[in-house]
Amino acid sequence: MCGIVGYVGERNAAPILMKGLQKLEYRGYDSAGIAVHDGKKVNIYKAKGRLKVLEERHPSDKISGTLGIGHTRWATHGEPSELNSHPHVSGKIAVVHNGIIENYQRLKLWLEEKGYHFVSETDTEVAAHLVNHFYEGNLLQALQRAIALLEGSFALGVLSSDVPDTLVAVRKSSPLIVGIGQNENFIASDIPAILEHTRNVYLLDDGDMVVLKKNRIRMYNSLGERIEKPVFNVTWDADMAEKGGYAHFMVKEINETPKVLHDTLNPRIDKDGRFSLSEISKFSAMANTLKRLFIVGCGTAYNAAMLGKYYIEKMARIPVEVEYASEFRYRKPLIGKGDACIVISQSGETADTLAAMREAQRCGAMVVAITNVVGSSVSREADEVFYTWAGPEIAVASTKAYSAQLMALYIIGTELAFRVGGIDEDYYRELLTALTAIPKQAQTVLDNVARIQQLAAERFNAKNVFYIGRGMDCPLSMESALKLKEICYTHAEAFAAGELKHGPLALLENGSLVVALMTQESLLDKTISNMIECRTRNAYLVGIAMEGNIRAVETADDCILIPRTVECFAPMLAAIAAQLFAYYISTHKGVDVDKPRNLAKSVTVE
Ligand code: M6R
Repeated sequence: MCGIVGYVGERNAAPILMKGLQKLEYRGYDSAGIAVHDGKKVNIYKAKGRLKVLEERHPSDKISGTLGIGHTRWATHGEPSELNSHPHVSGKIAVVHNGIIENYQRLKLWLEEKGYHFVSETDTEVAAHLVNHFYEGNLLQALQRAIALLEGSFALGVLSSDVPDTLVAVRKSSPLIVGIGQNENFIASDIPAILEHTRNVYLLDDGDMVVLKKNRIRMYNSLGERIEKPVFNVTWDADMAEKGGYAHFMVKEINETPKVLHDTLNPRIDKDGRFSLSEISKFSAMANTLKRLFIVGCGTAYNAAMLGKYYIEKMARIPVEVEYASEFRYRKPLIGKGDACIVISQSGETADTLAAMREAQRCGAMVVAITNVVGSSVSREADEVFYTWAGPEIAVASTKAYSAQLMALYIIGTELAFRVGGIDEDYYRELLTALTAIPKQAQTVLDNVARIQQLAAERFNAKNVFYIGRGMDCPLSMESALKLKEICYTHAEAFAAGELKHGPLALLENGSLVVALMTQESLLDKTISNMIECRTRNAYLVGIAMEGNIRAVETADDCILIPRTVECFAPMLAAIAAQLFAYYISTHKGVDVDKPRNLAKSVTVE
């Protein structure tokens, strides 16, 4: 996720671009840049780091020119650096981009054969060269021809040094709006970037292109036909709009899950419809010789690791040990040559995880990072990296990044299982097909939020909440309980359902809330027996189960239903329901959802 902004008008563009980018920094903040046309040529200003570094180095009030584009970056291809930051330039053309160009490697080869020289590691640079390649004096036509070759998602803002009064832009699967001013017009990834200047916007649809001059806006559809759109009047306040109309970042991020799952999965499916683990080729080449696999992480990342263990051991029959990074680093773990260690970290900066990773490397193990932040310490130090493409996660409680971590583990686990002969071709295909359906099914869970809201409204006062589950529902119950502790300040525990009668049952009393994860239908009879034991102690039972699970509905007092998928992937959908349940309880309790007390987003100290 990155933020882009563009301006054409009568005022100096640079301060407007910088202010706009400030409002988009939540979309990415590892580097920034602007391109401003001074009437004769396009001048480029870039800096690694947050926007304030760019402003310090190139004060915007000293930059003249009334046409410009700007970008704040969340690195995907290529580490955060000045060279990789946008705008990217090719000949007369300057481009800012938000999204991922999935076929950039093929296009890069093609452009190199035509003599184009690449200076960055980004996917975006192909867009700049392509527009340049097709440019014969008409920017719109050049952009049209360029995007016809691009696969993936992109919002692009484009300038040319020989056109000092025009900005062109396109939107495909990445957000872009047009701001309508008086003798000035704007583009932006999100409304807050331009709200100070106008409340009138056009909301572009996929494939739409726009040509902006200071007193004219022309819009075109993907076929190149002129289109008109209704003016959308923004009535929200700026703070609200930054969250895309959601009340909190957490719920916004949960709602991004379908896209995050798609973005994490899709680039890993090759043209033959198989998983490609090219990013972690050394690790996957070890599949048949791997002695042991360790997975380490903290908090939510640890809980994802536990789910990964269940899956990988079940499918690939490779022994997997999961450890808290804080324990692993100090206990002289029995790990060495021939072993591999996957470290999971959303931020890539968690101190314990970094230390555990260094310990694994010191002992001779191969280290793969599953992380969300390109250029983070974990990504730089790992032997290989498998990115979760979840975009910046702002809320302290991890939600969409957890979902992406699960998706990453399912992809890796399925491919490993096939390579070691744990599953056959037919089952491999079945699993791949089921995973491909998950992003859409995640959207269905979100669409059915009303039931969860109602349940949260009825139960938010529960003093003690117990999450129980068997099989893969067991690690999911740990993550679900963590969410409740973290953002609701509610005492919540997770138990393997079969463990209840070995002690925890003594905690149950009249009105205790028991949430039973019931997605593992092969273990349903057992879980139901445990639920009945809880009912006998006057607990209130909420179930989370796949649709069509009539016995779950009959057993629980209330049941949240998720779409049906193969059993081992169902926790990925149930997790969204559990996250929403915690979120709505938190709002009922009036907790500061995005910044709960005593916690920090990135724990860079021990
Ligand atoms: O950035 P990391 O994934 O390394 O962070 C690990 C934990 O601190 C993190 O998952 C924490 O548990 C979350 N706030 C939970 O929602």
